[in-house]
Amino acid sequence: MSESVAPVIRPRLVLGIDTSCDDTGVGVVELAPDGSVRVRSNRIWSQTVHAQYGGVMPELASREHVERIAQIAAEALDEAGHTLGDLDAVAATSGPGLVGALLVGLMYGKGVAQALDVPFYAAHHLEGHIFAAASEAELRAPYLALVVSGGHTHLFDVPRSGEYVLVGATKDDAAGEAFDKVARLAGLGYPGGPAISEAATRGDPDAVAFKVPLQGQKGFDFSFSGLKTAALLAHRAGAAPEDLAASFQQMAVRTLVNTTLRAAEATGRATVVVSGGVAANAALRAAFQATGLRVVFPGRGLNTDNGAMIALAGAAALHEGRAASSLSEGAVAYAPLATA
Ligand code: KG4
Ligand code: ZN
Repeated sequence: MSESVAPVIRPRLVLGIDTSCDDTGVGVVELAPDGSVRVRSNRIWSQTVHAQYGGVMPELASREHVERIAQIAAEALDEAGHTLGDLDAVAATSGPGLVGALLVGLMYGKGVAQALDVPFYAAHHLEGHIFAAASEAELRAPYLALVVSGGHTHLFDVPRSGEYVLVGATKDDAAGEAFDKVARLAGLGYPGGPAISEAATRGDPDAVAFKVPLQGQKGFDFSFSGLKTAALLAHRAGAAPEDLAASFQQMAVRTLVNTTLRAAEATGRATVVVSGGVAANAALRAAFQATGLRVVFPGRGLNTDNGAMIALAGAAALHEGRAASSLSEGAVAYAPLATA
């Protein structure tokens, strides 16, 4: 009588790394046999060296990643209660981002995967942002995904898992960039998103009249440069920073929510994933929750750039049995996510 060997049914452990810009992020995610995931740790080293230059200095970012990556990875594993040898897969962002910065995380991730002889997944930064929401609910296609961060404002339709159709994007500034610029001109500090959000609680959202961007358009694009210019003019005319913050935030939220809602109606999608740094905004969350759509946001600490979101994307790839990436995969500054 032949005896069948029972498959090993145990959670698998995925390490995720993001070094696309000025944050060294490493996270550990546990993938259960049924596909459910749990973030076990999420360590981030935010570089402060750039503050004196008023913007990210790519070469300095790369050097800081080199100095920190091993330590942050060790901390992430430690917090998860594991060691390197426990890992079943490794994922790292390969793009888009600063090439020199990306290379650090990518090389580290490949090295760990090769040493352990486990699959390596090169992850797309925006797919990572979308999968950050998998920490809160199962992401079952079809759904819409709005990624709103300092560098991106993209609305994707996800008809099937792993397939991304770009249905709208910003024509000028990214949403987070607009928050940052308006905060700067109003003297509210950096990063602008949290500063605007906080000041807005003390301001009148109807004090400054902003024109609705791209009103009447048939597509699903976004525009923030008009709001930024209007904010500058209102500031020069003496608008209080709190009123400016509240009024700008109200209009930015309205344009993001209304355009996404129209896209949901046009595509028939009932679920929307809202992720990226701006998805931390409380007013944006409240407005989306009032739409009647099923809205999924990333869990706490997973909105802005981090490693756990890349581990979540890697866990999805592992669960779906996707082929591992080649270890010769390089870093790319520009890489569209859309597959159609
Ligand atoms: O995703 P992220 O960390 O970086 C990019 O990949 O770009 O996003 C950073 C952006 C910044 O522009 C920041 O001002 C914005 O997210 N942000 C917010 C809030 N928290 C961060 N914007 C609005 N409200 C917030 N609470
Ligand atoms: Zn990002």
